[in-house]
Order: sequence, then structure tokens, then C-alpha cells
Amino acid sequence: MVKLTVNDLKVRGKRVFVRVDYNVPMEEKDGVMVINDATRIKETLPTLDLLISQGARIILAAHLGRPKGQREPAMSLRPVAAKLADMIHRPVAFVDDCLGEKVEKTVGLLKDGDILLLENVRYYKEEEENCPVFSADLAKLADVYVNDAFGAAHRAHASTVGVARVIAQRGGQCAVGLLMERELKFLGDELDKPARPFVVILGGAKVSDKIKVIDRLLEKADTILIGGAMAYTFKLAQGHQTGKSLIEPDRTGLALAAVAKAKQRGVQFLLPTDNVIATPVDSGRVNKKGRPIYDLQNPRVNTALDIPADAEGFDIGPATAQRYAEVIRGAKTILWNGPMGMFEDKRFAEGTNIVAKAVVDATQQNGAKSIIGGGDSVKALHQAGLGEQVTFMSTGGGASLEFLEGTELPGVAALGDK
Ligand code: 3PG
Repeated sequence: MVKLTVNDLKVRGKRVFVRVDYNVPMEEKDGVMVINDATRIKETLPTLDLLISQGARIILAAHLGRPKGQREPAMSLRPVAAKLADMIHRPVAFVDDCLGEKVEKTVGLLKDGDILLLENVRYYKEEEENCPVFSADLAKLADVYVNDAFGAAHRAHASTVGVARVIAQRGGQCAVGLLMERELKFLGDELDKPARPFVVILGGAKVSDKIKVIDRLLEKADTILIGGAMAYTFKLAQGHQTGKSLIEPDRTGLALAAVAKAKQRGVQFLLPTDNVIATPVDSGRVNKKGRPIYDLQNPRVNTALDIPADAEGFDIGPATAQRYAEVIRGAKTILWNGPMGMFEDKRFAEGTNIVAKAVVDATQQNGAKSIIGGGDSVKALHQAGLGEQVTFMSTGGGASLEFLEGTELPGVAALGDK
């Protein structure tokens, strides 16, 4: 079913409730919260510009962090309102609540094209409970609902689902925003009918996090390249020693089943043939959570099938990276989700960087469509200085993964059809 989009709406003079994902990384500097990466804010500007040009009265709702129904000052959206005002070159009103008399009064004063950002909806526990009363209170503020929060669309919460339902029941329109539309196009339609070869690069820590995605993509991809710590569970499944590497022994069956399915479907399924390993040594120090900190000593390339008992794998090795890069450069469609190793540490970033460079080369030189499935792969591309050179970078983390698994996202399901 094709969803109604913000382009289909007539919003002049109407109050439009726009759910955005402004869950941006923040850090305290000299007592103030500073936004480290404003991508999620920037990506909503096309929707907001369109609504402004159409004369909508915009009420933005978002969450920040996981305050679990408490008013955590560090999770206030106030700094986001200031940042948005800077980026959109117009005032953004802010109220330190998301419902109640003060909010209603401010909404009543909005003129066509004005923007108001509400305080963190997760300051109320009713948000995550998708409480009908809370949803109805939020819905009172608006005539029309737009969801541009792809990153939160896998959550069935009040501001992502409940409010849309109430507004729809009243006969109001509920539509996808332009960012949400792009996300659904690139992670959905483009991958349903990919130009071939279609190469999927999957990394990250756990097989259990990615197995559903692997299973689904085995139906569509020509090649799947596996990296990250989850590769060690595949290694274990094939009977090799994995030393101190992160593994999921109870998932070896799933790993073998994926390899078998790939063979049966004629999908090239590549696993690392070498790794960068190091020896973790207890430093005697603990981190903020009280967990021991390990120094990763003697980083080195391991070309043997087994990893030594005292060592842990942290990256794909140079031979694997070159092989993967070669395959990627020949692709016409690329989906990348998850880094190849612990890229935050320079010593273990090489595999991820080589893959990132190959993705960019395929895009720029081979005309490939490159789609980056959000989260850490986006971070890795930025770290390699290659952020703007791919076709599409998702703003979703968990949401992109669930969508790639083929799950219907509740935040999308709640919206109207054309
Ligand atoms: C995200 O950052 O992935 C989204 O904003 C969702 O946040 P959540 O995992 O706290 O629901």
C-alpha cells in the first residue's frame, strides 16, 4: 500500500503534529549539553521547509535518550530547539513540557509557518506505554499528523502510533514526511528490485542481531560479505578455534544454516580468511560501569584458520579486506550494515576503512547505488571522511535493521494510505 505523504496534504493554517527523531548524540561541555552530530536534525529540514512554505503551524515532538518517565535535565530537547533555529534560519519556540495548559496556549499563538518544539515526550512514562489518554492529550494539539521519525518508527509509542490513531479517528490526515519517504524508498523499494550484482556487507557484534536480516537478504543478494565480531561465530561453527573472540556458541546452528541456504540459492557467501588479533591484558583499571578495562596488546595479522587461545579478533585482515573491496567495486547495488571491526580504535579500523573506500569507489566510478543501513556504519563512513559520497545513509539504527528484516514498522503502519 502506498502511504500518504506530506506532499499530498493541504495544511495552510492547520496545526500539524510532526514526529521527528531528534535523538542526537550529546555531550556535556562546561556544564552545557552540546550536540555532537546534527544529521538527524538536518535530514528533517526538507519536510519542515515544505510545511512552512505551505503555511502549516508546526508542532514538533521527539524523544531524547531513555529518561524512563523522569525529567532528566541532560535529556532536555532545549538545546535541539536552538540548533534547529540556527539550521532553519528562523525562530523555533520551545516549551518545557509536551502537553498541558502552557503547551496549548503556545500552540494557540502559532501563526502560519511558525515552529514549536515540545519537550522530550519520554519525560512521561505514558509515551512508551502508548497510553490512550496521553495520546489523546497530545492529539488535542493538532489537526494533521506527519511522521518523519524513521529512527523511531519501530517503536509503537504514543507519539509514533497513538496520536496518529486519534487524529485519524477524528478524520484528520496522517502522512509520512519526506525523510521517512526516502528511508522507505532506499531501504525498501530499491532493494526489492536491485540492479545487479547486489552486494550486501554485514558486520557488527552478534549473529543473533543480524540473522533475520541475513536470512531475508539471502533471498535477494548475489553476494554477502561477513565481517565484525559475528564472523567469529561462523568460524566457531566451522570447527575452528576462536580464542577469546566474542562468540555466541548457541548460534552456531543458525550460522551453518545461513551458509547452507547461501549454497542452495547460489549466493556467494564470503567469510574472513584472515583477521587482526590482539592479546587482551587486564589493566587493573575499571570503566564508568565498574567493568575491567583490558589493554589490547600486540595487535597483529593472523592468517591461520585458528585464533590463538590468548588472543581476540578485532578486525578483518588485509587479505580479506582486499578480497571484499574487489567484490564491492564490481557491484551495482550495495547495502552495508555494520562495521568490519572495532573501528573506533585506529589499530582495528583498517578493514572497515578499506570497505568504506570500496563502497565509495563503486558509487562514484561504477555508478552503484550504495545504501548505508544506519548506526555504526554511518559513523565509520564519517570517521573515514567519506560520509557524503554514498547514495543514501539511513538515520535509523534499530529501525533500519527491523525494516530490513521485513518487519512492518508500527510508526508507518499507523499512517494513512493514498
Ligand atoms: C535510535 O536512536 O535508534 C532511535 O531514536 C530510537 O531510540 P530508542 O532505541 O531509545 O527507542
